[in-house]
Amino acid sequence: MKIIFCDSVIDNKLVEPDYKQEFYSANNSGFETEIFSFEELTDGDLQRTLKLIKSCEKEKLGIYRGWMMTSNIYEKFYNELLKKNIRLINTPSEYKHCHYLPESYSKIIKETPKSNWTKDVSISNVIKLSNEFGSNPIIVKDYVKSEKHNWEDACYIPSASDKKKVEEVVSRFLELRGNYLNEGIVFREFIELEFLTEHSKSKMPLTKEFRIVFLNKKVVQIFNYWDEVNYDCEKPDIDFFQNIAERIESNFFTMDVAKKKNGKWIIMELGDGQVAGLPDNANKKDYYNNIKNLI
Ligand SMILES: Nc1ncnc2c1ncn2[C@@H]1O[C@H](COP(=O)(O)OP(=O)(O)O)[C@@H](O)[C@H]1O
Ligand SMILES: [Mg+2]
Repeated sequence: MKIIFCDSVIDNKLVEPDYKQEFYSANNSGFETEIFSFEELTDGDLQRTLKLIKSCEKEKLGIYRGWMMTSNIYEKFYNELLKKNIRLINTPSEYKHCHYLPESYSKIIKETPKSNWTKDVSISNVIKLSNEFGSNPIIVKDYVKSEKHNWEDACYIPSASDKKKVEEVVSRFLELRGNYLNEGIVFREFIELEFLTEHSKSKMPLTKEFRIVFLNKKVVQIFNYWDEVNYDCEKPDIDFFQNIAERIESNFFTMDVAKKKNGKWIIMELGDGQVAGLPDNANKKDYYNNIKNLI
């Protein structure tokens, strides 16, 4: 079993500094670790990207831990690793299932905010899409990420019927995402969540949210989603979310969950476990030890 990390842009024999703690924790838990060049992968230089990874004699399972990639790039990465006899834990279609919200929406439809999406981001089409929410508040994101740190300008729309505001916020969102827009636009009904505090810079409400990591449908760890907030001791109802995890088509994924003002729990989003960042509060040693026990 191998854990595969991105290299440092400064020295390709070293791990990317942001993943250093994880790299050492993985080693300490007894995993073999490898590094590869993320830049060469995204530049399309497949020959060079895995140059420091030796071929395995027998097929080994691999887990990637690093930056997000599009599902096209993931497929190339997956196939290139297969040539070295390393099979990543999620197939390209399993990766896509949790990485792009529209792919898994039908699996969590009853437990997640009402959402719609389009790849046609022309303003007339975007306005048409927002009409489905009447005058409810909504948020905008792409198939993967929001601009939550630009909450008021590029994320939150107080009323979907305010077409001027829809146009303004979506335009700003598209401007900020630029070339990094993932596939298209998603609108989601805004749900009142249990408020903890307001982000000091972005004015975004920080609410009671957790990140649950599932490996082979078992819980690896539950993290407080926000590092900057003091949580009380309440944790999400894990049996409820464990049941939903059974129907998710992925072997390693995150489920971000939140508590509504009315006390019920919902799913905010899913993510592929290989590209989901761990919060600073995460105990990386426990994380890799738990992975070891569940693999
Ligand atoms: N539909 C929603 N209702 C209420 N709050 C939301 C909603 N969607 C997003 N948020 C808030 O915005 C944050 C970022 O949204 P999220 O979909 O997780 O995007 P990202 O992938 O950028 O983290 C969430 O953690 C939550 O606090
Ligand atoms: Mg999120």
